[in-house]
Amino acid sequence: MKPSIILYKALPDNLQQRLAEHFTVTQVANLKPETVQQHAEAFATAQGLLGSSEKVDAALLEKMPQLRATSTVSVGYDNFDVDALNARKILLMHTPTVLTETVADTIMALVLSSARRVVEVAGRVKAGEWTSGIGTDWFGIDVHHKTMGIIGMGRIGLALAQRAHFGFGMPILYNARRHHVEAEARFQARYCDLNTLLQESDFVCLVLPLTEETHHLIGKTQFAMMKKSAIFINAGRGPVVDENALVEALQNGEIHAAGLDVFEKEPLPVDSSLLSLPNVVALPHIGSATHETRYNMAACAVDNLIDALNGKVEKNCVNPQVAG
Ligand code: DGY
Repeated sequence: MKPSIILYKALPDNLQQRLAEHFTVTQVANLKPETVQQHAEAFATAQGLLGSSEKVDAALLEKMPQLRATSTVSVGYDNFDVDALNARKILLMHTPTVLTETVADTIMALVLSSARRVVEVAGRVKAGEWTSGIGTDWFGIDVHHKTMGIIGMGRIGLALAQRAHFGFGMPILYNARRHHVEAEARFQARYCDLNTLLQESDFVCLVLPLTEETHHLIGKTQFAMMKKSAIFINAGRGPVVDENALVEALQNGEIHAAGLDVFEKEPLPVDSSLLSLPNVVALPHIGSATHETRYNMAACAVDNLIDALNGKVEKNCVNPQVAG
């Protein structure tokens, strides 16, 4: 008999078919308690779980006593209670490689659009304000040859450094848990402590995952250390930044602008102060959101679940130590 799984995300037909070849699939709209209640039998017998953007916590795991593997269509896994999964020896699979280049592209888009005020001035053109030669009130600031500080030198940090160094001639500073030999050799990236990076960077780019250690890593003290001309970019996770402190820093002119793809609360509430600031570019968490990459992520997550339920955890597994 095929193992049963719960699918909580719509997938392209061919991937859905691939899942059905291996598993008995129950598709649900979300993992809310009422949905779980409605499909109680399917959750009680499921050995696998695949989807994204929903909390998988101890309370949900209690409803899934047979669960052996979870597969998220994302690189980030802050929605998962990893300790609870480990305690039950449930595998957690993710998609760390397929989205790297796309997310790095998004970060460069934020860098360029914040510095050159692309969204703001394009809005002014559409509003009919371009009626004569432009004056200094339409000007932005240069990106090329400015110093880029990258907080978190993982795969995405590395792809960002490549773009900044080769494409824009930017000196790279970085802070990470350890020295990154490849970044230093290929891009002459300079390792420095966080305070030095904040003080010396023209663009401070945050690409960290959310963990207990990174929560509110960047707050009032850190914004105060940045240059007044600095542009702050967050494409990691919203809660790594104290958003109230960010709003204050932008309002008080402690930093020049911000480009944000992630927020403490998503979707970003429509009454967020960030939305009333002209020097903020706010995107709806589109880091990996291209047709190609989202397809590749979904395909990777499907393969990951098939592998995990067959005991193969050589790649893309967050907690291979729990494999039996
Ligand atoms: C991820 O995969 O974690 C990204 O945030 C999605 O864009």
